[in-house]
Amino acid sequence: MKTRITELFGIEHPIIQGGMHYVGFAEMAAAVSNAGGLGIITGLTLGTPEKLANEIARCRDMTDKPFGVNLTFLPTVNAPDYPGLVKAIIDGGVKAVETAGNNPSQVLPYFKDAGVKVIHKCTSVRHSLKAQSIGCDAVSVDGFECGGHPGEDDIPNMILLPRAADELEIPFVASGGMADGRSLVASLAMGAEGMNMGTRFIATKEAPVHENVKKAIVAASELDTRLVMRPLRNTERVMTNDAVEELLRIEKEKGTDLKFEDIIEQVAGVYPRIMTEGDMDAGAWSCGMVAGLIDDIPTCKELIDRIMAEAEEIITGRLARFQGA
Ligand SMILES: Cc1cc2nc3c(=O)[nH]c(=O)nc-3n(C[C@H](O)[C@H](O)[C@H](O)COP(=O)(O)O)c2cc1C
Repeated sequence: MKTRITELFGIEHPIIQGGMHYVGFAEMAAAVSNAGGLGIITGLTLGTPEKLANEIARCRDMTDKPFGVNLTFLPTVNAPDYPGLVKAIIDGGVKAVETAGNNPSQVLPYFKDAGVKVIHKCTSVRHSLKAQSIGCDAVSVDGFECGGHPGEDDIPNMILLPRAADELEIPFVASGGMADGRSLVASLAMGAEGMNMGTRFIATKEAPVHENVKKAIVAASELDTRLVMRPLRNTERVMTNDAVEELLRIEKEKGTDLKFEDIIEQVAGVYPRIMTEGDMDAGAWSCGMVAGLIDDIPTCKELIDRIMAEAEEIITGRLARFQGA
């Protein structure tokens, strides 16, 4: 399939794997890229420019296809060395960057000069327009369904995507709640030129996370996510578990007095314990409502091939039949 997104990133299929903390290692990115999508290494998980440079080199050993790096600008306890990370990306010859969390204008000129294409992840039309105006090449429009940080507007993709299509000139992908060929065709119908998936890619053979995480996603339904940190205006959609229920209890108890320190035990530093050790009640971890649509653990190639075959069948079969009727 050819869209402005496949052209922009030089990929075969219009499918991107969004940056994911403690998931987006070289193994994940390479598997997605080898399957014809755009795999993404998560910069902040590596933390230092040296470790990111090493991860980029490892990924290059595993694939000769294009892959990208995610740079997330979020309130973190210790500010990362962003200039160093930008340099590691450029020096590593990476040609695609997914930015997220905050306006990327400070890093954009460096990427532009180096010929790196930037796709900025946004949860609203106004932020998408801002991204376009500062020179981003594309946008990843992340609806309220998404795993991770859906922003504070709560607009689901059924509204957000056509709204983005009405306003944007640069190409965009649909993100949040995407799982299969139906998601891809629906996204294309609403004006997107591809889709970005997070949660779906965690439940794959190559995802470098503990088996418990994959099993938890397969076992979960669409009712099993919760929104946390809303009182801090840093809302995150996570999989429910004992720690999350305790976090929500604390949020309710503290009300508007809630401070980050009150919930630090449930949110800070928990990712390695969950993703690497498989301790599923260690804390809050991002997960999308799309878990309700995930019931197997295929390879990335099986998943992407299946999505593309299903999309083709819908377009040339199911939809064409409606038209003929
Ligand atoms: C476990 C997990 C960790 C994530 N970490 C990040 C991150 O560090 N930076 C980022 O920009 N997005 C992050 N995301 C969001 C994804 O890149 C993607 O936008 C989102 O998962 C899309 O929604 P979906 O899960 O419904 O596919 C994360 C998502 C998950 C599930």
